[in-house]
Amino acid sequence: MTSRDDTAAAGPGHPAPGLHVPVLLAEVLTALAPKAGGRYLDGTFGAGGYARAILEAAPDATLLALDRDPTAIAGGADLVAAMAGRLTLSQARFGKLAEEAERFGMAPLDGVVLDIGVSSMQIDQAERGFSFRFDGPLDMRMSGAGQSAADLINEAEEGLLANIFYHYGEERRSRAVARAVVEARRKAPLTTTKQLADLVASIVWAEPGGPHAATRVFQALRIAVNDELGELVSALHAAEAVLAPGGRLVVVTFHSLEDRIVKQFLTERSGRAPAGSRHAPVVDVARPTFSLVSRGPVAASEAEMRINSRSRSAKLRAAERNAAPAREPEPDLVALAGIPAPQPRRRA
Ligand SMILES: C[S@@+](CC[C@H](N)C(=O)[O-])C[C@H]1O[C@@H](n2cnc3c(N)ncnc32)[C@H](O)[C@@H]1O
Repeated sequence: MTSRDDTAAAGPGHPAPGLHVPVLLAEVLTALAPKAGGRYLDGTFGAGGYARAILEAAPDATLLALDRDPTAIAGGADLVAAMAGRLTLSQARFGKLAEEAERFGMAPLDGVVLDIGVSSMQIDQAERGFSFRFDGPLDMRMSGAGQSAADLINEAEEGLLANIFYHYGEERRSRAVARAVVEARRKAPLTTTKQLADLVASIVWAEPGGPHAATRVFQALRIAVNDELGELVSALHAAEAVLAPGGRLVVVTFHSLEDRIVKQFLTERSGRAPAGSRHAPVVDVARPTFSLVSRGPVAASEAEMRINSRSRSAKLRAAERNAAPAREPEPDLVALAGIPAPQPRRRA
């Protein structure tokens, strides 16, 4: 799996800790094409890099920015003041973006942008528990509420843990790691990132100079704790429902699971789904609701990759909404993208 490198330290290609450098910013603006007076929604406000750039690029445009992390929303207060009524912040999940746009009188929208994943601020704060680089509580909740990584690690059944590590982290030693977790927690609960990282490193071999042994397990846990794939699926459908004809959807992802979901959705919604067998019964083909802005994904330039290692795994996909009615939501989008839902193992 290609993914954001959480092991990065400050230095060439690694911005200083805590500083979030927006990824693919120029490419996002090109794909979104914000226009004067337009209404936009940024579902992942973070440090406000995209939000600021969109408002600066489009005179008199307004923007509603969401983030599920209350600290990100609090950190945006200065930008809200500087934008003098053009920027509104709301602590909310982007899976609810249609409701939020309605609530703030912003629908229909001229553009939706999503920059999925965690920010540098979140990774670099040890107490948030996202990174194995620092010792902190095993938390990983972006919103600070709900089930934490420690809850999951200490309570989930062994088979479920193994499936989470395998399906969301593509960790080949998933079963051995899950077994070790269950054995360790019998003695005492696992409560810190270091405990888990050391345990994984005792089982998973890491190539010298390559990603840390615990990279895939940590990513898998973060995805599960925050229901990241479910959120993405909801957001894609919500964008379809709330974009005006000509409005654009721009999504930046950092690992292959997310990119596969976005690709599957946009391929299907733009009428590019592969043709079925000519012997199959004729079915009603729903009208496309989007057209692709670019055929394949857009990646970062060599220059950006040199300055910011996080951009190496970034992929941008964009599409333009047409006037066709929104389609029925596709409940199995994650499965259609080839990602099985982790289930507890069946007992014989
Ligand atoms: C990569 S950062 C975004 C950075 C931003 N584009 C910038 O330029 O500063 C991702 C942000 O999205 C937020 N986030 C992730 N999943 C979310 C969700 N389902 N709903 C709302 N916010 C989410 C995270 O809390 C984080 O602050």
